[in-house]
Formats: sequence, structure tokens, C-alpha cells
Amino acid sequence: MITINDKNLELTLKAVNSKYNLNSLVIKEHGVSTLIESEKTIYMFLKDDCCLKNLVKVLIPFFKTNKYDINIDVNSFVSLFKDANKAFKAVVETTLFETHKQFSMKKEECKCKNYNFVFDSKFKDLYEESSIKLEYMNFARDLQDLPPNVGTSVELAKRIEAKANELGNVKITIFDKKQIEEMKMGLLLAVNKGSYVDPRVVVLEYNGDPSAKKIALVGKGITFDSGGYNLKPSNYLDDMKFDMSGAAITLSTVMALAKRKAKCNVVAVGMFTDNRIGGNATLTESVVASMNGMTVEINNTDAEGRLVLADGITYAVRNQKAERVITVATLTGAIVIALGKWFTGAFSKSDSFYDDFYKASTESMEPIWRQPLICDHLEAMKCSKIADITNSEPGREAGSSTAAAFLESFSEGKEYLHLDIAATADHEHRGRAPMLKTMFELLK
Ligand code: BES
Ligand code: MG
Ligand code: ZN
Repeated sequence: MITINDKNLELTLKAVNSKYNLNSLVIKEHGVSTLIESEKTIYMFLKDDCCLKNLVKVLIPFFKTNKYDINIDVNSFVSLFKDANKAFKAVVETTLFETHKQFSMKKEECKCKNYNFVFDSKFKDLYEESSIKLEYMNFARDLQDLPPNVGTSVELAKRIEAKANELGNVKITIFDKKQIEEMKMGLLLAVNKGSYVDPRVVVLEYNGDPSAKKIALVGKGITFDSGGYNLKPSNYLDDMKFDMSGAAITLSTVMALAKRKAKCNVVAVGMFTDNRIGGNATLTESVVASMNGMTVEINNTDAEGRLVLADGITYAVRNQKAERVITVATLTGAIVIALGKWFTGAFSKSDSFYDDFYKASTESMEPIWRQPLICDHLEAMKCSKIADITNSEPGREAGSSTAAAFLESFSEGKEYLHLDIAATADHEHRGRAPMLKTMFELLK
């Protein structure tokens, strides 16, 4: 359990460095914590030039191994850093992330510890904001962690609807298969064809500033990616339940903004289905009309994310009248090779949109790295003899950029930014809900 300024717990965690006059038993090595029982204090020693990134790196293993109920003296951490607000956020948000009771179906319950934050009243509002962000980040992580037999499109839509209903200031729309057919979302339906589970499009609208231009966050919600007829080899199937991360993250971002009553005008669109094989599944070389009328040759059924997102983008610009669009997706293996777990790949033709987003990402300590996106990438996707565009460039060169170009071609001239979270969505078989904090920061 988490409490604030409630001095019930015996032990206190305090950050110190070489400038403190310390009990000789305190180990003065960066990142090492010493419990001094007579003082009822755990001293966490930090090197003098410790930056916030180093601090987070030390806090993570501390929480992973801690066996005590403790007060966290946040003031002691803040006093060691130049940027007090950023240090406060780093401590509180890392704690709320690392101590979250993660989804489990084990018989044995986890023995969760109690934590009590102790901080100055001037941080009250900042705490409120951080705790809202982490509530929805942890909600998204729990959705990510659901096994694919539980977290179907229908089930995810239900859980998101229930969570959004707690708020009261979010408009919830869930489109079922029949409505998806009526809207002519041919690409989403083509991906869904091999499944016995119906697709869902989940839309959450929050308008905290009617004068602001509307921004749409469109998320990939593939509840399991088998590859379809371009079936993935066994080892590539690992972690494919996380292919719905983009949708969980975008929808949770809107809920967080609504709970914070942020001044913004935002809509999230989650495109949910699984990608299966089966007698009815889409064959390669099928040509399908998208919601905006563009014909797409599906020359690779494993490039399904861009298909569902394309219809999501069309819905966002045409039906929702969004002026700016962000897509969030575990989209390509190529970005895993290029950037690994260290960065989310970001693509935009707009320097100003990218710059704004980059600023938000540094503020929220979620690293991104810009990737190329030019007209030639789209040209490479226009190689079908039959259709306007193909869903995969046969040569596989710059696979993440050609995927981004495919998506961008559906944005109808609106300001567009794409985030490829294939490598950052999960770590060690657990969801991490990347980019929620950054999108929150951008829009709050
Ligand atoms: N969901 C995958 C991308 C992915 C790969 C996510 C690894 C997480 C880890 C996506 O649908 C996919 O299969 N992409 C293909 C595209 C290709 C067929 C053009 C890929 O990257 O191989
Ligand atoms: Mg795929
Ligand atoms: Zn996929």
C-alpha cells in the first residue's frame, strides 16, 4: 500500500552523499544502502555527481529486493539534485512503477510492502500529477500482461470501458464488428478474418479545452500476432501478446489527462483484433479497400499493424476531425535491431511536432530517437501491380521507415508523428507502458 506523510512506519529510507556527516557503519559506495537499526534509517548513498538517470538505476534494484515497509524521505533525495521537481518526479514515479503489484494468476499472492512518501507540502500538486500518471501507466501494464487467451479484443474493450466509466468526463464509444463493417474499415476486417473473436474499435474522447485543436492518439491493439499466413517461426512468437501495447497506452493516456482535467482536446482510438491463421484468414496477395478507399495489396500478413492503424488514422481525421495524429505501435522488428530497448523510434516529417515531442520525452525521462521518414519510403511501398499500395516493401530495406511512410500516407496532410515501441513496450516478459508519460507531458 502507498500512503503520504503518514508516519506510521518504523523505518525510513534517506538519500545521502559525501557531504553528510555519517555514522561510520554507513557504506559510502554509490547505490549501496545500509540499515542502521539504532537510527531506524536505511541510508542510500549516492555519488556526488549522481544524475537522475543514475538515481533511477539505483532505485530499481532497491525496490526489487526490499523486504521492509518503509517511509521514503523524498525531501532527502530532492535536496541532492539541481532540478527539484524533476528529482521529485523521478523518486515518486520510480517507486510507484516498481512497487506496483503486477498481474499474476499464481496461487501464491505476492508479499507486497507498504510505502509511505514523506515530502514537503509544496510538492502536493506534483505528487497528484505523478500518481495519476502512474495509476494509468500501471493500468496499461496490467492490460499488456494479460495472457492472449484472456486479453481478447472483446475483453480488453470491456476492461477499458469499465475503467473509463470511473471518470465521468470521458466519452466512450466501442464499435463492434457490424459497426466496423458499416464504417468500411476493410483493413482491420482483413486482419481479423482468421479469428473467431470479433474486432473492437475503442474510442475515448476528452475535451478539456474546446478552443484547442484536436489531437488523436491511435494505438495498435493486436492481442496476439501469429503473423497470419506469413506465420512467424516459433521463437518469434514469444511476447506477441504485447502487440496490443500501443492501444492500451494511448487509451490510458487519455484517461490520465481526463482525471487530471488537463487543458487539451484529445481522442484515443484503439484498434483491437488478433492476427491468426485459419481457413478464413486473409491470403497474401489479397487486395483490400481501406476505410478511405485506398486499395492495399496485402503481400505480407505479418505486416498487420499498419493495416489496422491505417483505418484508425482515417477514422481519426475523417470522423473525429483530428488536426494532429500520433500513432503508437509495436510495429517492426527492424526498430528492435536499430534501437533496441534503449529508445523508442520516432518518425515525423514535421520538425516542430518532433521537437515538441522530444522536449516532452526528455522531461519525462522516456528516451526517443528520430528516424528517417521521406517521400521515397512511400514510393517504395507503391510497387503493387494491382493495388494503390502494398503493406510491405519486398526488399525489407529501412523496414521501420517504410512502415511509417505507409501510415503517414493515411494522415491526409494532418501533422503526423509515429512511435515504434516494438523494443520498448515490454521487458523481461512484462509490459512497461512507454510513452504514456511523454504524451501526457506533451498534452497536459
Ligand atoms: N508485431 C510485429 C513487430 C514486432 C517484432 C514487435 C518484434 C515486437 C517485437 C509486426 O506486426 C511484424 O510482424 N512486423 C514485421 C513486418 C514485416 C513483415 C514487413 C517485421 O517487422 O518483421
Ligand atoms: Mg506482424
Ligand atoms: Zn504485429
